[in-house]
Amino acid sequence: MSDQLIIFDTTLRDGEQSPGASMTKDEKLRIARQLERLKVDVIEAGFAASSNGDFDAVKAIADTIKDSTICSLARANDRDISRAADALAGANRARIHTFIATSALHMEKKLRMTPEQVLEQAKLAVRYARSRVGDVEFSPEDGYRSDVDFLCRVIEAVIAEGATTINVPDTVGYAIPELYGHFIKTLRERIPNSDKAIWSVHCHNDLGMAVANSLAGVKIGGARQVECTINGLGERAGNCSLEEVVMAIKTRRDYFGLDVGIDTTQIMPASRMVSQTTGFVVQPNKAVVGANAFAHASGIHQDGVLKARDTYEIMRAEDVGWSANKIVLGKLSGRNAFKQRLQDLGIQMESESEINAAFAKFKELADRKSEIFDEDILALVSDESVTTEKEQYGYVSMSQRSETGERPHAVVVITVDGKEMRGESDGNGPVDASLKAIESHVKSGAEMVLYSVNAISGSTESQGEVTVRLQHSGRVVNGVGADPDIVVASAKAYLSALNKLHSKADRVAAQG
Ligand code: KIV
Ligand code: ZN
Repeated sequence: MSDQLIIFDTTLRDGEQSPGASMTKDEKLRIARQLERLKVDVIEAGFAASSNGDFDAVKAIADTIKDSTICSLARANDRDISRAADALAGANRARIHTFIATSALHMEKKLRMTPEQVLEQAKLAVRYARSRVGDVEFSPEDGYRSDVDFLCRVIEAVIAEGATTINVPDTVGYAIPELYGHFIKTLRERIPNSDKAIWSVHCHNDLGMAVANSLAGVKIGGARQVECTINGLGERAGNCSLEEVVMAIKTRRDYFGLDVGIDTTQIMPASRMVSQTTGFVVQPNKAVVGANAFAHASGIHQDGVLKARDTYEIMRAEDVGWSANKIVLGKLSGRNAFKQRLQDLGIQMESESEINAAFAKFKELADRKSEIFDEDILALVSDESVTTEKEQYGYVSMSQRSETGERPHAVVVITVDGKEMRGESDGNGPVDASLKAIESHVKSGAEMVLYSVNAISGSTESQGEVTVRLQHSGRVVNGVGADPDIVVASAKAYLSALNKLHSKADRVAAQG
């Protein structure tokens, strides 16, 4: 059995299914580039048949990314598989990942199909997928809660049809590490042709055990592919977290005896990019990527780490890409230094005009903030006005007044399709007044379901990064804005969310 563990990242597919985490094509492409720098083996870029927007995103990623295998999800039917194959046509290495539910509950209540029909459809799907690409993954959805005898029949049949990877999802996060590990082991032992495929684990985190279950699937079950997402992003409690699995395998190589091809120094940039793009803030005590993951507050620990780092540290912060709030650029830094820093941070801009726009934003920021950190640069390039074509709404300027005992008042100037508009309003606070001033023109009717502020680099001198989540007619979108003034950051985040709400690119939930 191979001692290489394949890392299959599904941030752009299963992660994106998380309500509010849907991304635009440009955002997906930017994250895919970062995943390539991270050296993930397989990028599940989306679900091509779910919408035209997702088809375009999968296609753009397949046409651009050269080092990782690009995968599209597809239900077990010819139309889905054909859309996936078309979207993947430009990929260096393409994979179709087809799935159908196999648990009694899902077959009876959701699919309304008999087990024999499901078996037949799974075989046909894999056969057709193999006629379109050489690399086909099959997932029995809700596999962990499926009858083991039936599951063995389905998996044996799809391997015979040419499935090259068999993935066993714990779709609802019900598994327990030891049991899941033995479940995979049993399947591998009982299925006569099991050695013809690579076995994969796909665990959800409903009971907080997605990483533990995945690792048990590897250690006990002999799986050699782990499906995971950056920051554990995903529906409900999320998916297995990539950074935790990778660092567990690396840090405890003595136990697992496996290698991963991941460039771990790209973990933090990837984590920040996904968090800034989706607005899903990483909890401070999150393993590996949380703000406190390498912070030692107690005197005893600090003393120990200063004397010998490994007294309290099992990983090195720099190995996972933490650069301790380095001041990297300032007001006097030139375009070349800025461009170099973008490159060092792994940020690739499409054109010179995009770099010029980002540099202008940087200069604007440096005028107001003397110390510019890496985090500021990452926030700046996440700003939609730098990275995308002309949006419907743009921020121009604002002023607000708030005084003890008086109701705050704001005046905001925005562009609507290039034309300047001025709105004003009172509100409960300056942020409320500013957003109401914008609404006085836009009249979106959207409901705000989340508003959060985060200090990008820790102190009150830092830029505030605001996430706004809006909901309208069943769509949920996130907008993110950054500025040293949190009221301005709020207005930018609100406009960014409005732009997404008004954009045509919509998504259909991946699992129908
Ligand atoms: O959780 C799940 O079952 C899935 C499948 C589509 C692989 O995401
Ligand atoms: Zn899943």
